[in-house]
Amino acid sequence: MKLLVTGGAGFIGSNFIHYWLKNHPADFIVNLDKLTYAGNLENLKDIENNPNYKFVKGDICDFDLVNDLISDNVDLIIHFAAESHVDRSVMSSKEFIRTNVEGTMTLLDAAKNNGGVRFHHISTDEVFGELNFEGKAFTEKSPYNPRNPYSASKAASDHLVRSYYYTHGLPITISNCSNNYGPYQFPEKIIPLFVTHLLEGKKVPVYGEGKNIRDWIFVDDHSRGVDFVIQKGKIGQTYCLGGDSEITNIELTRKILGLMDQGEEMIEFVKDRPGHDLRYAMDYTKAKNELGWEPLVDLEQGLKKTIDWYKKNKEWRERIKSREYLDYYKKQYQER
Ligand code: NAD
Ligand code: TYD
Repeated sequence: MKLLVTGGAGFIGSNFIHYWLKNHPADFIVNLDKLTYAGNLENLKDIENNPNYKFVKGDICDFDLVNDLISDNVDLIIHFAAESHVDRSVMSSKEFIRTNVEGTMTLLDAAKNNGGVRFHHISTDEVFGELNFEGKAFTEKSPYNPRNPYSASKAASDHLVRSYYYTHGLPITISNCSNNYGPYQFPEKIIPLFVTHLLEGKKVPVYGEGKNIRDWIFVDDHSRGVDFVIQKGKIGQTYCLGGDSEITNIELTRKILGLMDQGEEMIEFVKDRPGHDLRYAMDYTKAKNELGWEPLVDLEQGLKKTIDWYKKNKEWRERIKSREYLDYYKKQYQER
């Protein structure tokens, strides 16, 4: 089988490509990525000479390019490419609408144009909005209620994907997953940001009082979930994937501090994120019953693996550090 993976140089995409080549060694992967600040070919250095892998630098909004790639016998499109960070979407939404909405539509058009190529869309629990502390975890039937520009753009892309199924009969599936963590994650999301800060002797900025809750999933469990949807999912359907690991940000921070032998004095409470969603949680009963999928890595295990990876990959961290993100964060914190 030949796959077009978009956004394969990012965090989840690069982990997914590693996962797929290991578990489906006869398949061929074309990785289309624009290499924005979040795309890093170093994540794929170990497979760059694999004869079953090819990288193409380009934009998913470029119809001619995408159409050319798909017309070259692609059997399956797995669409990860996106602007993915909520804080950035608060500062500026434009790129989120362009890549996440227009880019998804461009890919859908190209898939349709080539006889209806199987299309799997990677989405997030954030499209459902926020839960209160007592609310039941999100399911595939939860109403859409996105509350920040990132989740609004992902919600729009989910609706478009579904609309191409109903309108054009495009064979699609969607997975909505909770917060991921693991190796190769750009140090702007909370776990890699805190781990890298602590490795550099810096304090960790907890937004507000740290009461917000997220449901953490180790990235390999997400890749396995997508694999299960591809193999066994029903066309036109959505599957929720979660990590069974709900935790407040402050508890998560204390866990990371504990695993890194650091004390509470390394915590700095900073101004809250505007429109900060209180809680996300995923009920993955449908994926469990229909696909036989459930997460295998618990939070403690996953955090240990992740911290270990960031410790061992100092050069990766150093090179990332020299990119735009430090300036971005300095500016953001000075304005708080
Ligand atoms: P990421 O920011 O690490 O990577 C995104 C990748 O997309 C980068 O390699 C970037 O260069 C590429 N890209 C961006 N714009 C592009 C464009 N116009 N054309 C081609 N490539 C482009 O993101 P991630 O955390 O790996 O997330 C991947 C997907 O998973 C996203 O769709 C995101 O919404 C979804 N998701 C993420 C999480 C999470 O916790 N990170 C949870 C659920 C779902
Ligand atoms: P993040 O990793 O940005 O993912 P998302 O916003 O998609 O859930 O944030 C996870 C949680 O951590 C969220 O409640 C915001 C919080 N957070 C902090 O407290 N400090 C930080 O520096 C960051 C980046 C996030």
